[in-house]
Amino acid sequence: MRPKYAQPDKIEVTCREWPDHEINCSPTWCAVDLRDGNQALPNPLTPIEKKRYYEILIERGFKEIEIGFPSASADDFNFCRDVIEQDMIPDDVCISVLTQAREHLIRRTFEALAGVKQAICHVYIASSDLHTKFVFGKTREETTATAVESVRLIRELAKQMPDSDIKLEFSPEEFTDTDLDYAVELCDSVVAAWGPEGDEKVILNLPATVERRPPHHYADMIEEFNRRQSYRDSTVISLHTHNDMGGAIASTEMALMAGADRVEGTLFGHGERSGNVDLITLALNLQYLGVETGLDFGNLEVLRDELIQLSGLPVHPRHPYAGELVFTAFSGSHQDAIHKGLRRREELAEFFGGWKVPYLHIDPEDLGRSYERFIRINSQSGKGGIAHVLETEHGIRLPRAILVDLSKQIQAHADSVAREVQAGEVWDIFLKQYVRPGGPFQLINYWPRPTAEDPARIDGEVHLELDGKRYEVNGIGAGPIAAFVHAIRTLDIPRFSLEEYEEDAIGNTADAEAVTFVRLEDEQGGSHFGVGFGSNIDQAAVRAVVSGLNSILWGRS
Ligand code: KIV
Ligand code: ZN
Repeated sequence: MRPKYAQPDKIEVTCREWPDHEINCSPTWCAVDLRDGNQALPNPLTPIEKKRYYEILIERGFKEIEIGFPSASADDFNFCRDVIEQDMIPDDVCISVLTQAREHLIRRTFEALAGVKQAICHVYIASSDLHTKFVFGKTREETTATAVESVRLIRELAKQMPDSDIKLEFSPEEFTDTDLDYAVELCDSVVAAWGPEGDEKVILNLPATVERRPPHHYADMIEEFNRRQSYRDSTVISLHTHNDMGGAIASTEMALMAGADRVEGTLFGHGERSGNVDLITLALNLQYLGVETGLDFGNLEVLRDELIQLSGLPVHPRHPYAGELVFTAFSGSHQDAIHKGLRRREELAEFFGGWKVPYLHIDPEDLGRSYERFIRINSQSGKGGIAHVLETEHGIRLPRAILVDLSKQIQAHADSVAREVQAGEVWDIFLKQYVRPGGPFQLINYWPRPTAEDPARIDGEVHLELDGKRYEVNGIGAGPIAAFVHAIRTLDIPRFSLEEYEEDAIGNTADAEAVTFVRLEDEQGGSHFGVGFGSNIDQAAVRAVVSGLNSILWGRS
């Protein structure tokens, strides 16, 4: 007796070549959102939503779109009529419609297709023993006979529509649970029944209807199928994977390596149970490998939000490429590396060739996602994240000593609020801690002027308020800052020394704002950082000194 769960039956491979192959060109894409995707939505699409979904698929570059199962649903039938009658099919787009291999359903499907310029008639029949024997009570021979009769009927009906180019797609449903020799025999019989003429091809869609095998088994099956089938030159090998074991992407990629030509799937993997293969992730994976896919997933967040609305299904925040958090770093070391990598990305591109930035496998801007929101702050964040937020949102590069000090304050804040800290909060804490707008020393005005005796020396006139009282004081110095410090030392304030000084410009234009960072030392040797902004460097510098001084004044006993 086999245990309840065990390894699936082995695929007998004559020669396994696919692991050495690379995916160098794009498969043909067929979006089955409006059929496989829609049939698995808790609230199926309304006709208006279906139309919008169809437009989106066209906008994003799909050239083959399965629009429904017209013989099974009145909505699908009407939608098919609408796209044909309202001329909604661009010349380079081919619609596809699904039907079971049953005469009355095939005939109804052709009624839905009347007047179409080109279309794929997709017929399927279950080929696994589980289905043929136990669900339908049929033999393999009977199953093949039904498939062959159905295909002959489709050929005949297609011939009655000389102005329409009707292609055949055949799916042996549950291919991955079907004996491989039988799958080959069935598909060969179908292709022979169709009788491809000239360079005409039959699409053989080989589905992992239920994912029951690991990805490399699927690739083995595809490679071996192609080796054994009789009509390789007249067939397009199509993949259709479901995601029951979470391996749909891997299965599809490996099966492409194994020689498949075409992929069916859905955006965000909407589909039965755990869904179909997600074509966004798959196509972007190929794009990352340098393959031109013909699909456009720029403005991915716009697409995501619209599809959430239409489908009523959410997208996980960590969904590859599209999830809200997938280009966001919270951890300090990641933030630091991303921050440095983004700053040096041109240099890195030159060194490595192409895109290479720590912790970002793809350039989020290619998907219309901006850098600003990648680094978010919580209690695990570090200096890099804070530096990134201040630099990208406010154009300020903090000196290391202030950054170290600020990151401690932000961490303490994040711990106390026990949640993510917004960029605005980082800014508020920064202003409160280093700019100190409401301190006891308020600078009203400062005029640095060259002295009459020596134009190289500066006479600084300071108007200020200290503890609510107004003062006007003067000081002479070698420069505007020295003159300012001398002037305010005439007041009754604690002694301090100006130990460190750094200045920078915010922006690159001639009228860029200036920012100055200072470290003052009080009489006990304590450090007080101050930051000042101004339209010129002198103004910014004296404001930074005032801010540092306010910190000392706040500490007075
Ligand atoms: O998953 C499947 O096997 C299908 C077929 C109808 C192709 O959706
Ligand atoms: Zn399916």
